[in-house]
Order: sequence, then structure tokens, then C-alpha cells
Amino acid sequence: MNQHQEKQWTILEILQWTTTYFQEKGVQSPRLTAELLLAHTLQQERMYLYVHYDQPLEPEERKQFKTLILRRIQGTPTQYLTGVQEFWSLAFRVTPAVLIPRPETEHLVELAVELGRSFSQPAILDLGTGSGAIAISLKHELPHANIYASDVSEAALTIARENAQSLLPAGRQMTFFQGDLFAPFPEMTFDLIVSNPPYISELEYAALTCEVRDHEPKLALYAGKDGLDVYRRLIAGAAAHLNPHGVVLVEIGCGQQDAVVQLFEQQHFSIERIVKDYAGIARVIAARKSSSK
Ligand SMILES: C[S@@+](CC[C@H](N)C(=O)[O-])C[C@H]1O[C@@H](n2cnc3c(N)ncnc32)[C@H](O)[C@@H]1O
Repeated sequence: MNQHQEKQWTILEILQWTTTYFQEKGVQSPRLTAELLLAHTLQQERMYLYVHYDQPLEPEERKQFKTLILRRIQGTPTQYLTGVQEFWSLAFRVTPAVLIPRPETEHLVELAVELGRSFSQPAILDLGTGSGAIAISLKHELPHANIYASDVSEAALTIARENAQSLLPAGRQMTFFQGDLFAPFPEMTFDLIVSNPPYISELEYAALTCEVRDHEPKLALYAGKDGLDVYRRLIAGAAAHLNPHGVVLVEIGCGQQDAVVQLFEQQHFSIERIVKDYAGIARVIAARKSSSK
């Protein structure tokens, strides 16, 4: 080989090299990350890599992959590099305009599906829809539901609309609204109001990893000094937008259970269910509008 000729890297070799490099740089799940980024570069599924270990990379592929490796070690989340996050077994497109959907939020979807099934054609509002993860998953499980999804961020809604278009079967639709909490719905009422609102306090925000703080939208995370600003307004406004026996389901952050239960009780809601995640942390609160209201 000519000494100036660059080394030919096979898929297996470059995966091994990148895994070690990510390990040294403290990147989480180094092998998986290397595979996701390489599959993205080659515009293939991850499975493709396993059956083409001996395939050499083209110079242009190597260049593109190197750029992704550098951005990853500088802190850009893998999902913003590949543009995809799986949620509820659906491949959601994500950009820095939206929060990367988290697995904990599937607990909220699970409970919303269960409660939604007790209505024949529930009207469901997803407040702060972001990528549309909750609303689109619900429309998959409850095809007869009328789903409304809103966000204050127009940029997020653009992604949510794209996801609805690509992930929902033809003919299955939902409606999107832009605006602050209930502002787009002055007259409307719902059977379920679901939300994974921003809930990070000032102190927690300062302590977030750079990966989250410098890349995910602050609007999706930060909720005032004690992290409860959005819950306060959402819970205060919810009763006026619920049908009789309607339910509000919110995701909560670690340690917020007591404060959020109190906010619901102050507004005369009764707590219907509290769901813990796999780590035993209370993650979802469902509260029903008291029938006397
Ligand atoms: C934690 S993210 C949740 C995104 C998505 N539902 C999920 O679970 O992946 C919160 C979302 O609420 C939106 N948001 C923040 N404040 C809002 C407000 N006052 N009114 C409506 N949406 C708001 C943000 O833009 C963001 O998309």
C-alpha cells in the first residue's frame, strides 16, 4: 500500500474504533451510539451493519461519520444527529425545536389509553405536544378519539404536524393549535386533558447536563423558580375545559408528587391514580373533576 494512501476502514473496524473513542470521552452507550450514527450515515437500518461488517466505507461516508462523531462528543444528543427518537414503537422525527421524547412519558400514554377507553369517542387535548409523541401515540391506540394537540411553539408544531403526517395511517387525523395553554380553546371542553409540561426548577435547570441544557429547548424544560409554574396555570384552568367526569393527566418530575397533588386538591379535583415509573418514582398523576362542580 502506498504510505500516503488512507487506511480503508470496514464497518466493523470503524465501529470498534468509535466505541472505544466514545468510551474514553464518556459518551453513554458507546457501542449503540456508534451504531446509530453509522447506520444514519449509511442511510440504513442498524441491522444492515451486522450483516455487512466487512464492507469498506467510502471516503465521503467516512467524512460524514467523522463530523457526527465530533458533534456527539461535543454534546449534541444522538437523537438530534440522527433526527429520530423511538417512542411508543413509532419513529418520531426530532429537531432541536422539540424535546426528545423520554421513555417515562410512555406511562402517561398507557394510562391515557386505559382511561380513554371508558369513553366511546373521547375528546382528548395534549397540551404542550412538542414532537407530537403523546398525541400521535394516543391516536394510534384510540382511532375514534378526537385528538387536539397544542403548543406555544410554532416551530415545535411544524415537527408535530410532520410526525402526524408520516406516522398516522392515511385518513387518521388530529387537529393542531398554537398558543399559551388554554388560550386557543376559549369555548372547548374535553374528556381527557393530558400534558407533559415543562417542570424543571431554577436549581435543577442549572444542574442539568450540558447535553440537555445546551441543546434541548428551554421552553420545554424550565418552569420557574420551583418548577411548578406551568402546573399552577394548567390545573387552575383545567376544570373549565373538562366535560363532567373528565380527567387531567400530567407527567411530574422526581419529588413533585405532593406539590402537584396539592394544586389539584386546591382546585377541587380528586386524585384518581398515581403511576410510578420502573425506578419507583411517581411520574403520572390523574385527577378527576369533582362531579359536584
Ligand atoms: C416537556 S415538553 C413535552 C413535549 C412532548 N409532549 C413530550 O412529552 O415529549 C413541553 C412542551 O410544552 C410546550 N410549552 C411550554 N410552555 C407552554 C405553554 N405555556 N403553552 C403551551 N405549550 C407550552 C413546550 O414548547 C414543549 O413543547
